[in-house]
Amino acid sequence: EATAVIFDLDGVLVDTAVFHYQAWKQLAKQFDFDFTEVENEQLKGVSRVDSLNLILKWANREVPAPKKEQLASLKNTWYLELVEKMKYGDVLPGTLDLLTYLKAADKKIALGSASKNAIRILEKTGILHYFDAIIDGNVVKNSKPDPEVFLKAAAEVGIMPAACVVLEDAQAGIEAARTANMPVIAVDKSHVLTNYNARVNDLSEILISDY
Ligand code: BG6
Ligand code: MG
Repeated sequence: EATAVIFDLDGVLVDTAVFHYQAWKQLAKQFDFDFTEVENEQLKGVSRVDSLNLILKWANREVPAPKKEQLASLKNTWYLELVEKMKYGDVLPGTLDLLTYLKAADKKIALGSASKNAIRILEKTGILHYFDAIIDGNVVKNSKPDPEVFLKAAAEVGIMPAACVVLEDAQAGIEAARTANMPVIAVDKSHVLTNYNARVNDLSEILISDY
């Protein structure tokens, strides 16, 4: 019986993980590099700068810090162009039912995301008002798999880690939840994740009677 549910954002509540992938691919093209969906799994849940560092490593590129900032900001511009096309209600299957249920059942609802664009996306899709706490890339220092983001979310809603449940689509996020001593449900249609407590294809498969 969880008393708080901590949601990852990209790929769990909204279909933005594909936008991140597209935008990073477009950026990699700038230096004639490409990477696969399998490699992309390693970028999920990871901060913008850490993602860029990984891509540069894969591409065998060394770039000075100011150039890195430029590249990260270019990727974000492209990413936001895709986000801007999203509409009110553009959330993944099961999202609204689950949020509505949790609210009615008086459960705490928190966001635990690496994204610096989280609030903008929650606002745009119309689900911001459900959240009791928002811990995002603007407030955490350590990227998933570090548990900081989830521990901060639990603290902000005043619930013990073991009474929280985390919903994640990234391996880094699963490890973060595990380290935080929180049970974690993988949102993993493609069966690429491991080390979770339960797996669903999307949020519509969450058995709300369990929470
Ligand atoms: C995570 C995504 O939610 O946020 C990562 O899974 C992304 O792919 C990270 O890099 C940071 O997002 P943003 O929006 O701050 O660039
Ligand atoms: Mg995610």
